[in-house]
Amino acid sequence: MGIADRLVNAEREHSSFVYVMAGIAALNGLLFGFDVGVISGALLYIDQTFTLSPFLEGVVTSSVLVGAMIGAATGGTLADRFGRRRLTLAGAIVFFVGSFGMALSPTIEWLIAWRVIEGVAVGVASIVGPLLISETAPSDIRGALGFLQQLMITIGILLAYVVNYAFAPEFLGIVGWRWMLWFGAVPAAILAAGTYFLPESPRWLIENDRIDEARAVLSRVRGTDDIDEEIEHIRDVSETEAEGDLSDLLEPWVRPALIVGVGLAVIQQVSGINTIIYYAPTILSNIGFGDIASIVGTVGVGTVNVLLTVVAILLVDRVGRRPLLLVGTGGMTVMLGILGLGFFLPGLSGVVGYVTLGSMIGYVGFYAISLGPVFWLLISEIYPLRIRGTAEGVASVFNWGANFLVALTFLPLINRLGEGPSFWLLGGFCLLAFVFIYSRVPETMGRSLEDIEADLRENAMVGPDQERSPDPASND
Ligand code: BGC
Repeated sequence: MGIADRLVNAEREHSSFVYVMAGIAALNGLLFGFDVGVISGALLYIDQTFTLSPFLEGVVTSSVLVGAMIGAATGGTLADRFGRRRLTLAGAIVFFVGSFGMALSPTIEWLIAWRVIEGVAVGVASIVGPLLISETAPSDIRGALGFLQQLMITIGILLAYVVNYAFAPEFLGIVGWRWMLWFGAVPAAILAAGTYFLPESPRWLIENDRIDEARAVLSRVRGTDDIDEEIEHIRDVSETEAEGDLSDLLEPWVRPALIVGVGLAVIQQVSGINTIIYYAPTILSNIGFGDIASIVGTVGVGTVNVLLTVVAILLVDRVGRRPLLLVGTGGMTVMLGILGLGFFLPGLSGVVGYVTLGSMIGYVGFYAISLGPVFWLLISEIYPLRIRGTAEGVASVFNWGANFLVALTFLPLINRLGEGPSFWLLGGFCLLAFVFIYSRVPETMGRSLEDIEADLRENAMVGPDQERSPDPASND
């Protein structure tokens, strides 16, 4: 166990401020999730105002993903330069303005342009929340606090489903889709107001030689003035390293972390979660459920996603990241196998229909305890301090890029292969994910970010071989 582990874990009773801080930073996830969830509902009504070809429909949906790639690509570097807190505020303001922009769009071109801008804020939100949390949280609860961002994503998706339902099709003579898209301004305003109470990351402050401010933040989040050794430790790590840039990511000693971050980014998407999040109602009605049953089923999927994320929060600092990932991807593989099989059996209604629905819900549950939250957490933990923001941005760009590719190719894939084989293909990706995680992904539970970085330097981040027993003191 490293010195920082001991220091951080010595403080068993965490100050309530650290929870407040993580809760506010995690509101970034609310913007992200709301945007993911809202568009499927809004799309149903946008054609009341604009003429929408299937192609334009695809563009309206995926434009936010293009913006998110831009936001993630630039957000990490901006977070390293201007700080995590200021970037959170900037993202919230862009999202707020973007929500009004989308709602008031006079033409479809304006709507698409505003969705790209909104996407930039979503891309920024996807990285800055986890970054701020992981850099401020005590290591024994860093997993649980980091998962709050994913919890907010899932709550955002559910909130969007409810808003879609509440505003359809029209309210006060204004078509429903405008209200739905406008509603994003509400979580954005809450996040912007929250940043007033949000501290800057102490690690970023130290990296920028603002030691007194770092000391003030750290003693507040740790609930003690006994923080000198921790400050010294972070300072040592930051002083031995010059300011990093993208090329540092390719250095041999950083490569294992790069492979893990980018690998998990792609895996999280090609394992198919958004095919279910976006197309659950369509799949359910194909199976033979009526309209209302399909909506209830979709809300059910969203609710399971939220509840199992809560379960993951309770587990992550006790069982570790790797067991969650392995159980989750194993379970997802089995569930997709059953889901695919359902489409080969005669008569999807009746028992087969319920088994299919059950496998869909099971799949989302396994995702919610594994790839959903663990990906965003790990990419905020495994990179060296001086390039943490930039490197996390790179992983996030790959995530949004893979999301974009899956969104573009899934429906054509179903048309070509049929539903059963398409879900089996996704199941095949989950199996590969299992193997990748088993052989490559390190355990970071209960360790300080500086010790994780030391492992990387010593070339010790090599998956299961690196697995070590966590600090017993951190798991009581
Ligand atoms: C993923 C999103 C997905 C969401 C579903 C997130 O971790 O990055 O693409 O829509 O989980 O809960």
